[in-house]
Amino acid sequence: MRKINILEPNILNNSKKILRETLQKNQISTSSSYIIKKFEKKISLLGGSKYTAATNTGSSALFAGFKSLEVKKNDLVIMPSYTFIATATSCILAGGSPWFFDIEKDGLTLNLDQIEKTLKNKSYKKGKYYFHKKSNQRIFAICPVYTLGFLPNLSRIKSLAKKYNLKIIADAACALGSQFNGKKIGRYNDIICYSFNGNKSLTAGGGGAVSTNDRGVKDKLVLTISNGKTGQYFHSTFGLNLKITGVHAAIGVGQLNKFSEILKRKNKVRKNYKKFFQFFKIKFIDQSNTKSILWLNFLICKKNISQKLIQNARKSNINLNFFWMPMHLQPIMKKYLVEDLKFTNKIWKKILVLPSSDNLRVKDQNIIKKFLKKNLNLIN
Ligand SMILES: Cc1ncc(COP(=O)(O)O)c(C=O)c1O
Repeated sequence: MRKINILEPNILNNSKKILRETLQKNQISTSSSYIIKKFEKKISLLGGSKYTAATNTGSSALFAGFKSLEVKKNDLVIMPSYTFIATATSCILAGGSPWFFDIEKDGLTLNLDQIEKTLKNKSYKKGKYYFHKKSNQRIFAICPVYTLGFLPNLSRIKSLAKKYNLKIIADAACALGSQFNGKKIGRYNDIICYSFNGNKSLTAGGGGAVSTNDRGVKDKLVLTISNGKTGQYFHSTFGLNLKITGVHAAIGVGQLNKFSEILKRKNKVRKNYKKFFQFFKIKFIDQSNTKSILWLNFLICKKNISQKLIQNARKSNINLNFFWMPMHLQPIMKKYLVEDLKFTNKIWKKILVLPSSDNLRVKDQNIIKKFLKKNLNLIN
C-alpha cells in the first residue's frame, strides 16, 4: 500500500517542458544566466522586492543574507527559538549570535510584546546602536520566521527595528506569495529569504532565493554567492559558490507559472481539514487578517503527541509527525542567549503536522480524517 507522506514534490507538466527546453539549450549550470534571471525576476515580482539572487538552498540564502548585511562577530540577532535549525546556523556561520525569543500565546511567530519589553529593560544605547546590558554584545538584527507560512505583525517589526536601529532579515522559507495588510512581504525587511526545497509549496526540486530593495545590498549578495569574484580568478571579498543551477531555475520557472493553481489546490486541502477540525472541536490556528500561504496543515493536540499516535499512523500508512524541536533544546545552541520560552515549551510537542501536498488525493485525505477520528482520544 502506498504511504501518504507529509509533503511530496509535484512537478507539473509545464515545468517538465521548460526543463526539457533548458536541457536542449544546454542552460544547465550556475552560469546559465537566461533562465536564472527569468526565475529571479519572477520571484521579485511575486515577493514584492526589487532585486533577487537565486541560491542553491534556502539555508545558503540565509547565510548570504546575514553576510551581506555585514553582521559582525558576536552581534546579536533576535529570532524565535521555534524555528528550523538553518535560521540559527546560517546566522552563526556568518559571525552572528542568535538571541532566542518566545512565540506568541496563540500563534507560531515571534512574541513581539516580549521583544519590546526585553529591549526596553535589557539594552542600552551607545552611539547609534543598542547593546545588551549583561553581555555588551551589539544588538544587530531581528530575524522573524514566517512559520509554516504564518506572518507576525510586520508593521510592528518595522517600527521596532526603526526604534532600535535593527536590520530585518526575514526567514520566509515557506512563505513566498504571502501578503500582510494587502501588501507583498518583500517590502517589510532589508532582506528576505526563501526556500524551494522539494517539500515547499513552490519547489524547484531544491533551491532558494534572497531578495532586497537595496541595490548596494544586492551587489553584496551577488558577490557572496559567487565566491566574491570581481575579476578573472580575482576575489575581492569573502564568498562561496551558492548559486542555483539552470536545471533548478527551469523547474522553478515552470512551477511559478502555475503557482496560483498550486495554491488553489493547497487551499482546498486546507479547507477540508478546517471543516473537520471545527466539527470535532480540534484546536488549530488560523490567520484571517493576512493572506498567508499555508505550507503545512497541522493541528494542536491537547496533550503531548504520543509515540502511540505516530505508530498507529504508520500502521495505516500515514506519515504523521511532530514538527521542529526548538533551538534552545539543541545541544549546539546551548551557549546562546535565551529569554523565557513559556509558550514555545508548552506547544512544540503538541503540534501534529498532516499530509499537505497540493496533489493530495481526496481519497487519501479521507483516509487521514478517518484515522484522526479513530484516534481522537490521543488528540483531544
Ligand atoms: C524556516 C526555514 N528556514 C530555512 C530553511 C532551509 O531551507 P533549505 O532546506 O532550502 O536549505 C527551511 C527549510 O525547510 C525552513 O523551514
